[in-house]
Amino acid sequence: MPGLLILGAGGHGRSLIELLRAQGAGCHWDIAGLLDANPPAAPVLGVPVMGTEAALPALWQQGLRHVVLAIGHNATRLAAAARLRALGFDFPTLVHPSAILAASASLGEGTVVLPRVVLGAGARVGAFAILNSGCVVEHDAEIGEGAHIAPGAVLPGHVSVGARALLGAGSCCVVGARIGADAVVAAGAAVTQEVAAGAMVGGVPARALGKSG
Ligand SMILES: CC(C)(COP(=O)(O)OP(=O)(O)OC[C@H]1O[C@@H](n2cnc3c(N)ncnc32)[C@H](O)[C@@H]1OP(=O)(O)O)[C@@H](O)C(=O)NCCC(=O)NCCS
Repeated sequence: MPGLLILGAGGHGRSLIELLRAQGAGCHWDIAGLLDANPPAAPVLGVPVMGTEAALPALWQQGLRHVVLAIGHNATRLAAAARLRALGFDFPTLVHPSAILAASASLGEGTVVLPRVVLGAGARVGAFAILNSGCVVEHDAEIGEGAHIAPGAVLPGHVSVGARALLGAGSCCVVGARIGADAVVAAGAAVTQEVAAGAMVGGVPARALGKSG
C-alpha cells in the first residue's frame, strides 16, 4: 500500500488517523507519519511524528507522494495544499465507511468526509473541504473549495457555500441558502437569508456578528 503522510498532528489529525483505521481492509493507505508546525515529541495514536513541513523533500526522496491535510483553518489548509503541490505531492480524498454518499454526488481532491456524514443526490463538494462528523449536505448542494461543514450542521437542498466558508457545529440553513466565500456561520445558527462573503453570522435567525478574519 502507498504511504500517506498527515500534515497536522492535532485533533483533526487524530480524527483522520481514526478514519483511516476505520476503513479496515478497504483502506488503500499505509499511514507513514505525521508532520506539524509544532511536532509533538511522542507518537500520536501510535503514528510516528516526522517533523515539520521542512522534512517533506527528504520524505519525497524516500518515495512518499501522498498527503492529507489535517489543518482546520480553511485558508491555512489551502495555502498548505499549494505549497505541497509545488513539491509534487498529491492529495487523496478520504471517506469514513459510515458516511452515506449519493452515487451522483462528487468530492474534490483532498476532501475528507468524517463519520456519519450524509451527502445527497447531485451534491458537489470542491477540493480540500471538510465534511465533519454527522453533517448533512443534501441534494444539489455546491460546497466551495476549502469550506468546512462542522459536526452536525444541516444543509437542506440547493444550498451554496462559498470557498473557505465555515458552517459551525449544529448550524442549519433554509433550502437554497447562499453563503458567501470566507463567511463564518456560528455554531447553532439558523441561516434564513443570504450570508455575504466574509460575513460572520450567528443566532436564530442568524444575524451579523462582525467580520470573519
Ligand atoms: C462565531 C464564532 C466563530 C465567533 O468566534 P470569535 O470570533 O472568537 O468571537 P467571540 O467568541 O469573541 O464572540 C463574538 C460575539 O459573537 C457571539 N457569539 C459567539 N459565538 C456565537 C454563537 N455560536 N451563536 C451566537 N452568538 C455567538 C458572542 O457572544 C460575542 O457577542 P458580543 O460581542 O455581543 O459579546 C464562534 O463562536 C463559533 O461559533 N465558531 C464555530 C466553531 C465550530 O463549530 N467549529 C467547528 C470545529 S470542528
